[in-house]
Order: sequence, then C-alpha cells, then structure tokens
Amino acid sequence: MTTTLSTGATTGTGIRPYLSGFGNEHSSEAVPGAVPAGRNSPQRAPLGVYAEQISGTAFTQPRAVNRRSWVYRIMPSAAHPAFRRIDNGLLRSAPFTEVEPDPNRLRWDAPPTPGAPTDFIDGLYTVGGNGDTGSHAGIGIHWYTANRSMTDRYFVDSDGELLVVPEDGRLTVHTELGILDVAPGEIVVIPRGIRFRVELPDGRARGYICENYGAAFTLPERGPIGANGLANERDFLAPVAAFEDRQSAVQVVQKFGGNLWAADYDHSPLDVVGWHGDYAPYKYDLANFMTIGTISFDHPDPSIFTVLTSPTDAPGLANADFVIFPPRWLVGENTFRPPWYHRNIMAEFMGLIRGVYDAKAEGFVPGGASLHNTFTSHGPDADTYDKASSAELAPHKLDDTLAFMFETRWSVVPTRHALDAPHRQSDYDAVWQGLRRQFTP
Ligand SMILES: [Fe+2]
Repeated sequence: MTTTLSTGATTGTGIRPYLSGFGNEHSSEAVPGAVPAGRNSPQRAPLGVYAEQISGTAFTQPRAVNRRSWVYRIMPSAAHPAFRRIDNGLLRSAPFTEVEPDPNRLRWDAPPTPGAPTDFIDGLYTVGGNGDTGSHAGIGIHWYTANRSMTDRYFVDSDGELLVVPEDGRLTVHTELGILDVAPGEIVVIPRGIRFRVELPDGRARGYICENYGAAFTLPERGPIGANGLANERDFLAPVAAFEDRQSAVQVVQKFGGNLWAADYDHSPLDVVGWHGDYAPYKYDLANFMTIGTISFDHPDPSIFTVLTSPTDAPGLANADFVIFPPRWLVGENTFRPPWYHRNIMAEFMGLIRGVYDAKAEGFVPGGASLHNTFTSHGPDADTYDKASSAELAPHKLDDTLAFMFETRWSVVPTRHALDAPHRQSDYDAVWQGLRRQFTP
C-alpha cells in the first residue's frame, strides 16, 4: 500500500489555502502542469493523468447557472467494480411515506452520542423531508453524529448536494477537488456527485445536513439592497487541488435513489491532481454574513437572513432556503422584537449552533431542532412574550446566538424513528400554554 497526500500550494503558516469567490471558474494544480493549458482534453493529458468532466447541470443550461468542472486524475472515476446494496441505517430519503404527514409542532433535544465507533456515514440520522429524489425536488433533513474519522471509506451522494452545518466538533472534508477545514459557525456545501471523506480533528462531531435534491444552492438576489451585503461572494471558499495517490482496498459508499450502495475500490477516488471549473465544494464562515434588519420599526421577515437559496421555476419560491439568525443589534422602536406569531405556507426546520434563540426562553438547545410545518401556528412562548412586550426598548445587542432555518416549499414529513425517538420532546405544545387572555374591549 502506498499513500501519498499532496495538498498543492502551501502558505507556510499551517493555514490551508483556498480559492475565493462564489461560482467562479477556478483552476488549481497540486502538481504544477497538471491542468492542460488552452484545451480541456488534449490527445495526451499532461503527467499521464486522465481528463474527466463532472457536469453539475445539464450541458445546455444558461451560463448563469451552468456548473461543471474538468478534473485531471490518476485513474478515471469509471475504473471501479459493481456497487451492491448495503444497510441504510437511520438514513431515509424521499418520498417520505413512513408516517402520515403530522400537523403537530415537533421539537427534539440533540440526538444521542453514538456509543460504538461511528463515522460520518454510519451516523446519518434522517429527521424527515419532502419531494422526490428522482424529479430533483425537495430536501432531506439529517443529523450527523460521529466519533470516528473516515480513513478507508468515501461517500458520494447522487441524490442531492449536502449543506453541512456543524454544531459540535470540527470536520476536515477531503473531497475530489481538495480539502476543506470546517468548524462550528461555518458551513460546507458538497455538490451532488462529488466524492469525499470526513475526518474528525476533535474525535467527535455533530451537526445538521440539508440534502438538497433541487437546484443547487446559490446566493439570493439582493434587489434594492444593492451590490453588497448579506453573504458576499468573496467569502465563499473553494479548496485548492489535493490528491491521494493510494493503491489499497477502500470502500466507496454511494447514496443513489434513496438507498446506500457500496463498492470496493483498489484505489482512492480522491485522485484529482488538478482541476478547473466552477462545480466545486465550498465553505463559508457565517460570521461574515452582513446582517440587515430594521432601523425604524417592525420585525422584518426572516428572508432578510437568507444565506443561500435553492430556487425553483416559480419566481421567488425556494425549494429550500438556508437562513441564519446571527448575533445582531435590535433597535426597532415600538416593536415587538422577537419573531411575531405566524403561520407560513413554507415549512420551517430550525436548529441551534450555539447560545440561545430569542423566541424561546428554554427547551431549544444546541444540537436540538424544531419543525413547524406548513401553516403550523407558532411563535414566542409565554415567557418570551411577557418579557418582549414589556421590555424597555433601547438598542440591544443579541450576542452568543447562532440559530438557523432550513425553510422549504413543502411540508416536511418526519421519519418514524424521529417521531418515536426518546429525545423528541413530547410536551412541546406546553410552551404556549402559559399565554393568557388579555383582551380588554
Ligand atoms: Fe417560524
């Protein structure tokens, strides 16, 4: 067995280099000369590598949304034996039909920490989802809990791109196009069909995943906000080329059509020596999000906090939005500052990365989650209502908080195991029980 890891350019500081910018045409070589100049597939590619194109969109989609990368690799990815079905564990996929759609408000504590050695694949735990993988619509929502690095295993999701939101523990994500270090407070997006493995520098990791079956996440339009603000293009970082020159038995696990399949390779699938293109994984530090809110009165809709959106063919209607509630100033005058009571045609799945969320006094904990489905009535609990409606309104900094939402166009149908899980809070409705009549005609 030989294993050589080459990470291309180095900075000498121990900080991994990245390429900056959302959806840019990048070019990166782990070995100088690996990417041919001027043409994608010369008769003989340089350094004896094979040329291969990965198309993330149909060839003919418009330039603004077209995504593809050319990879120059030791072996073409076609060099592999047959895949066989393996157990799905707690991973589920669209269509979600295990239980009837549930109109109740649902909330969970963090999922249990695994006892046995569990890697990123083994630790996938599906909360629920919607849509259909075959027609490229909807999402799956998962937790991951892991305590073992993937060393001889690789994963690829052919059903959707993976937006990973770490809550506890750092991830080192080795992908076909390079390596991304991701810590809680950052996110990483791995495009559909890109092979990767996950190492755990802290020996443990937990977080959330939006598996997006629909159009790839992109930045929302800014409209009258202008050319700057919210998530800025330059803060999205793609990896530089890195490859594993490894000839030994490894397993590649593929999610395809909702199920897990595995094949035994005799080499690492992460053998891309150089690449160019715009279909690449990327990471983003949520601390770079320029939060915009009211500086006069009223509480803006949470769409103002959209980091990434998966659009549909209907203008403004998202297959899924990734929305964050970061530290920020609250200054609205004569304004109830937490989110008001509301019902929404969109379904809202929320998680907490750290701190406290301003619409709930207690019970919504880091690593936990809530699901407020289509037209489900929700809003602040009684304690939060009392406090916020009688507060002295001065400029107030919300600190030590980072919540997020996966908002999606269709109801999220939970999985059987998420609905029956001991860490689901059976008394969630009680948070609204303390609300009193105060009508005084
Ligand atoms: Fe809501």
